[in-house]
Amino acid sequence: MDRAELQRAVNGIRWAHRIDLGQGIVTPGVWDTPALVERLHLPADLTGQTVLDVGCWDGFYSFEAERRGARRVLATDSFTWQGQSWGSREGFELARRTLGSRVEDLEIDVLDLSPERTGAFDVVLFLGVLYHMRHPMLALERVASVTTRLCIVETVIDLLYVPRPALAFYPAAELNRDDSNWFGPTPSAVEAMLRSAGFQRVERVWPPSARLLLWRALSLAGSRAIYRAVFHAWK
Ligand SMILES: C[S@@+](CC[C@H](N)C(=O)[O-])C[C@H]1O[C@@H](n2cnc3c(N)ncnc32)[C@H](O)[C@@H]1O
Repeated sequence: MDRAELQRAVNGIRWAHRIDLGQGIVTPGVWDTPALVERLHLPADLTGQTVLDVGCWDGFYSFEAERRGARRVLATDSFTWQGQSWGSREGFELARRTLGSRVEDLEIDVLDLSPERTGAFDVVLFLGVLYHMRHPMLALERVASVTTRLCIVETVIDLLYVPRPALAFYPAAELNRDDSNWFGPTPSAVEAMLRSAGFQRVERVWPPSARLLLWRALSLAGSRAIYRAVFHAWK
């Protein structure tokens, strides 16, 4: 595809992720994924590793794992790929083709993940998906079942001023006016849920300091604003 054709194809898609497709074209995603990836503390070298990207949307993080040397990457989604959100699967397909990527794909619901269906993976990315789960504990158990080493969880966090593990419930569209959001956990709830789901060690890697988190908690107290955090959970 020449540059003009590629640009036309890119313009015809609603992108969530900013993916560098080469020829000077970066997809116009609503999320600044090249900046956000820094928060994940994704290992710089994934040589020889297997990676599962759960709820991958346009696949930025799958392609990034491949770029960092992963020997097998499986990109999965259901909701968006089935056209149930403002996005689609088209971005993932165009990016994969254009990048000449070997990332594999599977349309599968989080709750259907199992070692029998997908195999198990050294590294599992569970980014921006937990708060979309109606059954968050069950979802984490499914994710744990296909993780052999490290699971990276990125999520909305809420109720930062509550000193106990707790989950805010969004019965309608309270979070971002999006009725596909269900629960916003406190950071301590995410940690406890991951341990309960079978991970031995859990570490919050973003925000990087307890002070920053406390500052956010104080500044958001009493407001409806939410914040996000990243956790590493080890088997
Ligand atoms: C906020 S987006 C995050 C996309 C990407 N992981 C990221 O961090 O940029 C949530 C993604 O989770 C997917 N998703 C929501 N519910 C799902 C489910 N039950 N099973 C699989 N994927 C789901 C959506 O389709 C969407 O791609």
